[in-house]
Amino acid sequence: MKSTLLKNCRILQEGKLVRRHIYLEDSKIAYISEEIIAADEVIDLKELLVIPGMIDCHVHFREPGLTQKEDFLSGSMAAASGGVTSIIDMPNTLPPTTTVQLLDEKRKLAEKSIVNYGFHFGTDGDNLEEIKSAKNIASVKIYLNATTGNLCVTDFGKVERIMQAAPFCALHAEEQSLQEAISMASRLNKRFYAAHISSAAEIQMIKKAKKRPFVEVTPHHLFLDESYLQGNPMLGKVKPLLKAKKDQEALWQAIKNGIVDTIGTDHAPHLAEEKLSQESFGFPGVETALPLLMDAMQRDLITLEKAIELTSANPARIFQISNKGKLAEGYDADLVAIDLEMEKEVKASGFFSKSRWSPFEGKLLKGWPVYTFVNGNLVFSHGKIHDIKAKELLFEPRQKKIAQEGAAQEAASQEAASQEAASQENGKPVEQDKGVAL
Ligand code: DOR
Ligand code: ZN
Repeated sequence: MKSTLLKNCRILQEGKLVRRHIYLEDSKIAYISEEIIAADEVIDLKELLVIPGMIDCHVHFREPGLTQKEDFLSGSMAAASGGVTSIIDMPNTLPPTTTVQLLDEKRKLAEKSIVNYGFHFGTDGDNLEEIKSAKNIASVKIYLNATTGNLCVTDFGKVERIMQAAPFCALHAEEQSLQEAISMASRLNKRFYAAHISSAAEIQMIKKAKKRPFVEVTPHHLFLDESYLQGNPMLGKVKPLLKAKKDQEALWQAIKNGIVDTIGTDHAPHLAEEKLSQESFGFPGVETALPLLMDAMQRDLITLEKAIELTSANPARIFQISNKGKLAEGYDADLVAIDLEMEKEVKASGFFSKSRWSPFEGKLLKGWPVYTFVNGNLVFSHGKIHDIKAKELLFEPRQKKIAQEGAAQEAASQEAASQEAASQENGKPVEQDKGVAL
């Protein structure tokens, strides 16, 4: 057994920032202590903020078939340097991940990843038997709108059969398709994961839903608006499209009133030359998500508690990932140490991703990851990667637990929405969740 002491960490405990030493035994957090405990190795984190590593439920690491854009090693190095300790990969690869055999092949390819990994399974609408036999998947991803790849199911009869066959579904559904998916899921009494919600109209649909989906928003829809696309007609292309300022504001408001459950990057790498020469949708995101959020936190746009909830606790809960998503004794040591004073510009030429451009190029951000630990191993420190392989995530089998939690969460967010409606009627702003003083 190997023991490691992470000395002098600043962590959030019961709403307060406190100084603690974190003692790791192999891959686990064994103790969180006020006292120094002797260990094989001691790393002094000198009061850096230590939070659970981000669990990014939405990345496209492009293997197999599109490895000029990314692969599991480059994507995972990018993730580690951005403080992302687990990722869930999307199925729109070449070939798409629509059979158990293809999933097993992808599993092998992912063994080179240095952050933990899991998979969303793909569907063309005609692979119900494969869906039923797929093991240890996060969800079945249904594309109701066209995007990179050819996985698009527009026949709602098929969508319904997939929803019935799958343990859990994640949907790419925009505007009208989202409305139809919400109605269908309400009728079937199924809760799905709505990827990259991006507009005020979609938030309204979700608020009114009888059966609310879990809601993901992306950093690019939170931090950019359509003016970026106007200025950069090729590089600015992403699905869903960047929206108006009022949509962006609606997303921030939805975070404040509890409608949003996760932040997923939708890391969708393309080479700059591909973006500039042909229609390619998507942005790289794993290297900038936490710095954007930490910077936003220091400008009082989001609290630290909320940022942690959206980037680790909720993804682990919604996808039922074993033993992750909390900085607590007994949990896996997937941690990121952040220097909140470090101020630097986004420079995509230094990215570990093969997609070495960014819509945030040149943006000055305050709050960057300095150390990233995955399963107790230091995989990133001070700009350097340490190539230590990670593990496949374990998804607990879906059973009643999530349905019950879903109901509780639903009740809480319905309550938040009705409070919001009441305060809007009174002409008062919505009360925001209380911040943590830094
Ligand atoms: O912009 C996007 N790019 N949106 C998607 O839905 C897919 C992604 C990709 O895989 O390139
Ligand atoms: Zn995506």
